[in-house]
Amino acid sequence: MNILLLGSGGREHAIAWKIAQSPKVNNLYIAPGNAGTALVGNNINIKADDFAAVKDFVLANHINMVVVGPEDPLVKGVYDFFKKDAALAAVPVIGPSKEGAQLEGSKDFAKAFMIRHNIPTARYKSIFAANLEEGYAFLESLQAPYVLKADGLAAGKGVLIIDSLEEAKAELGNMLEGMFGDASKTVVIEEFLDGIECSVFVMTDGKDYKVLPVAKDYKRIGEGNTGLNTGGMGAVSPVPFADDVFMAKVEERIIRPTIEGLKAEHIDYKGFVFLGLINVKGEPMVIEYNCRMGDPETEVVMLRIQSDLVDLLEGVANGDLAGRTLVHDPRAAVTVMLVSGGYPEAYEKGKVISGLDKVSSENIIFHAGTVAADGKILTSGGRVIAVSSYGTDKEEALAKSFAGANRIDFDKKYFRKDIGFDL
Ligand code: AMP
Ligand code: GLY
Repeated sequence: MNILLLGSGGREHAIAWKIAQSPKVNNLYIAPGNAGTALVGNNINIKADDFAAVKDFVLANHINMVVVGPEDPLVKGVYDFFKKDAALAAVPVIGPSKEGAQLEGSKDFAKAFMIRHNIPTARYKSIFAANLEEGYAFLESLQAPYVLKADGLAAGKGVLIIDSLEEAKAELGNMLEGMFGDASKTVVIEEFLDGIECSVFVMTDGKDYKVLPVAKDYKRIGEGNTGLNTGGMGAVSPVPFADDVFMAKVEERIIRPTIEGLKAEHIDYKGFVFLGLINVKGEPMVIEYNCRMGDPETEVVMLRIQSDLVDLLEGVANGDLAGRTLVHDPRAAVTVMLVSGGYPEAYEKGKVISGLDKVSSENIIFHAGTVAADGKILTSGGRVIAVSSYGTDKEEALAKSFAGANRIDFDKKYFRKDIGFDL
């Protein structure tokens, strides 16, 4: 079969790497891809949210399946665009409908969904200009710190965690007045939950589901989880505290009610559900839903799937996922992200990356923000290269990834040397 993968980051390189291993695949295309995806498939110069161009490409190249990496095209309705177009309707899109993508696209929608289906999550209140006084009163009823979330997509920056009540009230006003544009016209105020987080990924055909290997990502730029939030500086899988007892609770209290809830509400959802969970004294609670795989979690999760990913994706598309097999690799997998100096604030692009040919064959290199130009590979983003490795345990895997991270170089390269420190 011919597959088109939408996106251009480390997540997409990891998915492309795994898809390319399937004997079921004839041609793999990535739109737009990066210098790394070009090593495992064919990049095409189309933006992931240019649906008209995607349509032309799909028809001209006999594409049999479209896999969507990032949330943007999903929230903009790429699934519905295909379903409503007579020429495209037969081509399955792996990813939820626009309505299903609201689990990520609107925090208010996600919270109300969880309440309707009795899924454990922090207490909250949604605030907009007309009920600001209720927002102040709700903040007063909570204990510090205060959690304020922009309702809509804000490129991972829309969550503020604030220690003082006065400052929280002021920031609530600022958010409603457009601090994150339209995304913060509604603000979700949440009770703060204290615990350790993990990322659980579920693949669903809308009826059944499979739970992928659990991962933990490291979002802050600085060691010891300090400093600004980033897209993610590294990831580890498995996660020791996500043991059988914890995961049984996750399935019973969160995963099943989520899949059943989507079905009961007639929300079309054939794709990945990303559960951002927090372990509060052994009890899992939902911090957020995303409608796609995580980045950089995918750069470890793909290593830990032994089965043919394309066979599973076919199960999602055909609605017979229950009959497909998902085997987890027992080894540990880790990834360490090399980023541009200055990230997540201002940084320079276009730096020559050297040493990619010097890393050991035990490193699996995924490109996150790179372009190929004149026979060189250049940086083109904040997150540049993810260095993934296997090990019998996370320590062994991390030692390999750090060795690889030291061999690859570019001007102002930075990476965290403490990935996995808190597990
Ligand atoms: P979100 O975009 O909803 O995942 O929030 C970003 C980050 O803020 C999460 O990964 C958590 O570390 C933190 N966070 C969000 N909501 C809460 C909460 N209710 N309690 C504690 N931390 C939170
Ligand atoms: N690593 C978190 C995310 O992909 O949103």
